[in-house]
Amino acid sequence: MFVCARAQEPDPADIASGLRLFRAKGNCQACHGWAADGRKMDSQMPDGANLRETQLDRKAIVVLIQCGRPGSGMPAYDRLAYADGRCYGMKSADLAKAGMNLTDPPATLAAREIELVADFLMAKVVGKGPMNRARCVEYWGSEVNECKELKE
Ligand code: HEC
Repeated sequence: MFVCARAQEPDPADIASGLRLFRAKGNCQACHGWAADGRKMDSQMPDGANLRETQLDRKAIVVLIQCGRPGSGMPAYDRLAYADGRCYGMKSADLAKAGMNLTDPPATLAAREIELVADFLMAKVVGKGPMNRARCVEYWGSEVNECKELKE
């Protein structure tokens, strides 16, 4: 089962790419916080979920990033999310009819980029417990200011 092996142990370079996409292009951290624990960076943004405690598996996370969650603040990152029914079988017109708003993403992500973000989340965030000093240093690769305010 190569698929499973890969899902559990992605390439470290892929995880690093996923982290970059989470922070920069996808700007997930604006709403979810740099540690993805829901302590958002931008107070003007909607309150993102604590992804460290999410019950979703990798597959569900990929769908969430692709399709967002209409009616909440979670944007859809697939450029064609509601163009052809690929997301929950719905198109933009269906969302409008149901009165569900969809937040615009900071940027759209390609399918491969979405996979990389999911790899990063599974490896470093989901189920890893609250951010602490040691995890923070590992996350950033050094003792940055964000880590100094955390408990050991
Ligand atoms: C504009 C703000 C915003 C941005 C940007 C954003 N999110 Fe979200 N996200 C949310 C909100 C708000 C929720 C909670 C939705 C709800 O209440 O059901 C959420 C929920 C989620 C969930 C579901 C968690 C769960 O357990 O139900 C996942 C996974 C997720 N976001 C991942 C991401 C990733 C990865 C990115 C970047 C590619 C991202 N989000 C960018 C606001 C945002």
